[in-house]
Amino acid sequence: MKLPKIHSITKKLLVGCVGGFLLLFLLFHMTANLFILRHDDGAWYSAFCHFMGSNWVVKIFEIVLLAVFLLHIVLTLWLAITNRMARPVRYHEQQRSKTHQNSKLMMITGILIFCLLIVHFFDFYFVKIGLVKGEYMVEVEKIQTDEVMTIHQYATQQGMTPNEFVDAFEAQVRQYSHQLTPVEQEQIDENIAELRRAVPVAELFEKAFAENNFSADHKWIRHITYDERQMLRQNMPECGVEPDFYYRARDKFSHWYTVLIYLVFFAVIYLHLSHAFPSVFQTFGLNNYKYNKAIEVLGKIYTWVLVIGFAAVPILVFLGL
Ligand code: HEM
Repeated sequence: MKLPKIHSITKKLLVGCVGGFLLLFLLFHMTANLFILRHDDGAWYSAFCHFMGSNWVVKIFEIVLLAVFLLHIVLTLWLAITNRMARPVRYHEQQRSKTHQNSKLMMITGILIFCLLIVHFFDFYFVKIGLVKGEYMVEVEKIQTDEVMTIHQYATQQGMTPNEFVDAFEAQVRQYSHQLTPVEQEQIDENIAELRRAVPVAELFEKAFAENNFSADHKWIRHITYDERQMLRQNMPECGVEPDFYYRARDKFSHWYTVLIYLVFFAVIYLHLSHAFPSVFQTFGLNNYKYNKAIEVLGKIYTWVLVIGFAAVPILVFLGL
């Protein structure tokens, strides 16, 4: 097999940049996840996820992150293959160096991280992009349009369902349609069509009252199903329905087997990162005998902080703390 020729130092530098970027992302991700531990019915975490979902800078960052992640895999595999091809004779068992053992460990832990990341994406990210069905939420004020509030108010007053109310309203208006000009008639038809579009949203609003689906701060309507999400997207595309990750994380981590899978995930990340951190410094020539010890200690602290921070969420949620 012939691979395009890029100087191996360039490849190493690229792997270093990409690795450094991923290390920083993980610190950011871990810190944000700690909001799940607040007993505020998701106020902070939902606000954070909303920011992440609605900001175009973050959307670009997300694409860059996924691209960088794939680049990391491609580059490390490429580096490993070209290193192997450059070695004319395979090492004898006893001659295997520490570097060789390390890169083997990195390869195995890297593959495991990739597999566990797919599990993680099924739990969260795929819900966001609609590949997996979950529970969703929408900001109360976004769906309180004039039509929804009119239907809600009058239907409640008259003891009707939203649909019955719009039927009755239309029947009443149609009685006088022969007195209207074509322009007025068109206007009425448009208003009724808008009311009809608002009916399922008003029904959702009523269900939220009946089942007390509001978040504690009354900012969100919770427990929106996948079908209701599709309905909202169709009838009210501007309302920005989004996944309820606070609820989902708390629900997922109430099962011991999910907690176990995530703890294995973090242990593998620990093994991977404890080598990756000094490696990033080495790539940029920032290590020398004077700083090696400090870099090693810094790497250990960074990795432990990350892993403990990540692990705190499933463990404490499972314990109900
Ligand atoms: C307790 C542990 C974790 C929780 C609760 C968690 C939660 C989440 C959530 C809710 C999302 C979707 C966020 C959004 O798109 O708005 C997400 C996405 C993601 N997670 Fe995690 N995560 C955890 C650990 C990890 C770890 C250890 C890694 C990396 C090895 C990781 C990598 C990612 C990536 C790459 C994404 C997609 C990019 C993004 O949306 O920001 N996560 N995670």
